[in-house]
Amino acid sequence: MRNSAGRVVVITGAAQGLGRAYAMRFAKEGHRVVVLDLQTQALERVATEVRALGATCLPLTVDVSDVSSVEKAAAAIEQEFGRCDVLVNNAAIFSTITMRPFEQIPVDEWVRVLNVNITGTFLMTRALVPLMRRHKWGRVINVSSAAFLMGRPNYLHYTTSKAAVVGMTRSLARELGPDGITVNALLPGATDTEVPRETVTPEQKRQQIAMRCIQREEGPQDLEGVVSFLASDDSAFVTGQSLVVDGGYCFV
Ligand SMILES: NC(=O)c1ccc[n+]([C@@H]2O[C@H](COP(=O)([O-])OP(=O)(O)OC[C@H]3O[C@@H](n4cnc5c(N)ncnc54)[C@H](O)[C@@H]3O)[C@@H](O)[C@H]2O)c1
Repeated sequence: MRNSAGRVVVITGAAQGLGRAYAMRFAKEGHRVVVLDLQTQALERVATEVRALGATCLPLTVDVSDVSSVEKAAAAIEQEFGRCDVLVNNAAIFSTITMRPFEQIPVDEWVRVLNVNITGTFLMTRALVPLMRRHKWGRVINVSSAAFLMGRPNYLHYTTSKAAVVGMTRSLARELGPDGITVNALLPGATDTEVPRETVTPEQKRQQIAMRCIQREEGPQDLEGVVSFLASDDSAFVTGQSLVVDGGYCFV
């Protein structure tokens, strides 16, 4: 894959789970990795793991839904590297969600999920696109979810937010194409990470696996290479797209 080493790759929500896995993958490919999250201590542990692979790593404690926090992070990235080539908008309120019928979702929780999952993606992109524009090259990868294609019940704020991410991806692709910046959405299926969660019961997981063309569990290794492709030169003519990586459960 054409993926020049040494790019500056910014990954939000990288203190655990899939964001951490993407950070390790980009480090192995020889990129400079910036990991962002709310969880400072976990972020430091990830930075240590990334550096152990020989890569440069800048950990930044950031709330992606907070304008000044995001702007400070962008300034720190500019000061450290003077550029940003790839942005993976992965941070979301996800594994901590309690599943419940939509009428029972507290309004403050609804607002928080939309703020982090939608506004956070907007703010991060707004803050880092100027650094991509300078070099007329950039990759924005927005993490959505196959859960919204499935219309999974009982976390309406989450599925709504992930649908919005696809809409944002399409409009941004049109706005940023002239600057050599591609914008694509990644839609993973239910993926096991080291983080326990209650958004999929064992029975639901069995049902989902039975509906997949490739009938096995999904892991971070199924997503890392796709993210790497979307960040590479090989995906230069792919933009505005929704890439579903769920073993063939949903088709778009
Ligand atoms: N794991 C799956 O099954 C699956 C499936 C489809 C889509 N996704 C999406 O993939 C992404 C990663 O999933 P995961 O399983 O690693 O989730 P996770 O909940 O384990 O990790 C999310 C990370 O985002 C961080 N975060 C939350 N709010 C933040 C904020 N305001 N600012 C900065 N960081 C914040 C958390 O601290 C956490 O480290 C999410 O966007 C999720 O919606 C996951």
